[in-house]
Amino acid sequence: MSLQLRRFIYVSEKVGLSEQDVADIVNVSNQNNPSKDITGCLLEGSNSFLQILEGPSDAIKSLYKAISEDNRHTNVRRLCDEPLNTRLFSDWSMKSDNYNQMEWGDSALNAGNFINISADAAKNIFSRISEQGESSF
Ligand SMILES: Cc1cc2nc3c(=O)[nH]c(=O)nc-3n(C[C@H](O)[C@H](O)[C@H](O)COP(=O)(O)O)c2cc1C
Repeated sequence: MSLQLRRFIYVSEKVGLSEQDVADIVNVSNQNNPSKDITGCLLEGSNSFLQILEGPSDAIKSLYKAISEDNRHTNVRRLCDEPLNTRLFSDWSMKSDNYNQMEWGDSALNAGNFINISADAAKNIFSRISEQGESSF
């Protein structure tokens, strides 16, 4: 069993979800992720999801298997799967509001369309959101 920490990012397309579907996803994640030492965040865009998961390699692998088979989204595409030394996120949460309040310098990203996003652009988004989370006013 490997305790190596990994950072995993994927993008997926939403399929006719209700608000309740999204609330269910957030609730189950809040329930499951802390006990598996999984942190990160989920962004719900206009037509897609972008999620970062950080934690023990084995836990991330089995969660990603469940997520990729979940029929509440489709075309799940892995963008990043790499070892990490320092987490960007110290807990898990939905961060769409933070995302929507920021300027991304790209019309697709400003519209919450993640479908064609590159790995570098996705990493940049999460690093900016994590920096914002740490700043105090
Ligand atoms: C976009 C999306 C993101 C999800 N993120 C998580 C997550 O971070 N943690 C989690 O436990 N389940 C997540 N899920 C739900 C899983 O696919 C699966 O339904 C859930 O892990 C099953 O949990 P259970 O075995 O406790 O019922 C996500 C589903 C979707 C569609």
